[in-house]
Amino acid sequence: MCGIVGYIGNREAYPILMKGLQRLEYRGYDSAGVAMINAAGAMNVFKKKGKVSDLADFAKGQDITGNIGIGHTRWATHGEPNDVNSHPHYSQSGDLVMIHNGIIENYAAIKEGLTKRGHTFQSQTDTEVLIHLIEDIKKSENMKTGHAVLVALNQIIGAYALVVLDKNDPNTLIAAKKGSPMVIGIGEDEFFIASDASPIVEYTKNVVYLNDEQVAIIRRGEEVKLRTIKDKEIPLYVQELEMELEAIEKGGYEHFMLKEIYEQPRSVKDSMRGRLNAEKGIVQLGGIVDHIAKFKNAKRIIIIACGTSWHAGLVAEYLFEEYARIPVEVEYASEFRYRNPIIYPDDIVIAISQSGETADTLAAIELAKSKGATIIGVCNVVGSSIPRASHAGSYTHAGPEIGVASTKAFTAQVVVLTLMALQVAKEKGTMAESKFRQLLYELESIPTKIEDVLKQNDLIKHIADIYKNAENALYLGRGFTFPVALEGALKLKEISYIHAEGYPAAEMKHGPIALIDEAMPVFVIATKGPNYEKVVSNIQEVKARKGKIIAVVTSGDKDVKGMADHVIEIPETDESLVPLIAVVPLQLLSYHVAVMRGCNVDQPRNLAKSVTVE
Ligand code: F6R
Repeated sequence: MCGIVGYIGNREAYPILMKGLQRLEYRGYDSAGVAMINAAGAMNVFKKKGKVSDLADFAKGQDITGNIGIGHTRWATHGEPNDVNSHPHYSQSGDLVMIHNGIIENYAAIKEGLTKRGHTFQSQTDTEVLIHLIEDIKKSENMKTGHAVLVALNQIIGAYALVVLDKNDPNTLIAAKKGSPMVIGIGEDEFFIASDASPIVEYTKNVVYLNDEQVAIIRRGEEVKLRTIKDKEIPLYVQELEMELEAIEKGGYEHFMLKEIYEQPRSVKDSMRGRLNAEKGIVQLGGIVDHIAKFKNAKRIIIIACGTSWHAGLVAEYLFEEYARIPVEVEYASEFRYRNPIIYPDDIVIAISQSGETADTLAAIELAKSKGATIIGVCNVVGSSIPRASHAGSYTHAGPEIGVASTKAFTAQVVVLTLMALQVAKEKGTMAESKFRQLLYELESIPTKIEDVLKQNDLIKHIADIYKNAENALYLGRGFTFPVALEGALKLKEISYIHAEGYPAAEMKHGPIALIDEAMPVFVIATKGPNYEKVVSNIQEVKARKGKIIAVVTSGDKDVKGMADHVIEIPETDESLVPLIAVVPLQLLSYHVAVMRGCNVDQPRNLAKSVTVE
């Protein structure tokens, strides 16, 4: 939530900041702002409600010069999205400005104290309170800005990734982080700061990931200095970025979401690469090898995640129970952390997250860790907070996911969790060798099968056109495809704003059936498998009430074809791997419906890619 960028060097900062903000816009997009110090030492701040493009229009013709600056794209927490609440925020004198991602929980008490000391505030934000506090400390203690930042950060409770710019020191940027991500790019006589590496990759591959409670003093012409907020010096650890520029560009697609849907044959393959060899009968996730005995002896696995990642967790529940015979509980991280959950030291907790930054999932990890459980992270963003907070884990290798609606991250998560369950099953001896081998071969064929589904785009678009004006939709699945129904419904509602619900098919008769009439599209995953006949009966129940059936069926299916209004055929595979294929037409369908309804597919309203607030 919120994207931050900073630049100091010899080039003009503004174009770098604006390009960076566009790349980070997926993190928040209700307002944006920049601040630069020009050659004459004047600080120019421009901020605007709306998109980065609105900011660009607003700044046109104004003094946007300077080779030091900061920029921010916001997802509102404190204070509605408007020009005043946009970042950067000013200190009392106006000499300091700051951009911030996160939440200062004790801002109200600090604000009260500062108000008594004569401070006045323009905005409703917690950020403004913090920059006032920094200046207050700087002045009253006669400190340099960097030192005042350290002192102030010891007084606040909450999360932050922030950058401070001081009008009276045009050669320095001060950055700090706790709970929200921050990367510093190190170029030739220039430095970049950003919430993730996407604004940096074009300029340098040398990066430093800031850890929690660290402050970076970035001075022109000097090496970056790192300190903890307790004022302890930290050596600089420069890493090489693995990201490629093409991975974060649209590459000819109209939207990132469409590109990411189409990337799935590759991202699924990448998530299996080096981990699966069907011919040799090998599945090995290097990240869990050292913990395999714990898996083997675990009486239970708890999965924690949010949103789409939680749906991947539900698929994993079926996988681990079926393959490895370990009981699994799948928990919303936000519920888990605020209950008083029973956690045993021999529990394995699998935390699933695309971004690796989701605040609730992180907090749930810390809770489980404090009770002695082993934490296994399944994340996509390398170096993010969740993998760092986990004891071990496996990355998903889906590549950067920029569209706010998760697509390729979901299939990559399911692939990694499938490999994990198979590895544990092999170790525990809970699966016949012949079945194990068959599943490995099936897994290897999934990318090609996804390609086959993608070839049906025109049919899916045609179906989208028929139902684009629906007000409600129901998604049904059973067994392994129940989580796919939930995911299909989430995709539709989040990007097209059509109310949609996912249900286990058999539960329909316990309530949702009352909603069915001729205006209700019902998307049913009715692939061949042990539940097929039962799902066919559910379809008949919908048809008897004049509901419209759009069924995802196994290639060659005849029975459902005879009763459904539309069918989308997907290649046959093992029942446990169907989610990897069946979700793809539902992703495409939501995409087309949203485009046809004129929605902003990559940046749906009120959402942000990385939910770093609880
Ligand atoms: C939906 C979506 C969200 C995320 C959720 C968790 O398309 O993207 O529901 O899945 O916010 O995010 P991560 O996986 O980053 O923890």
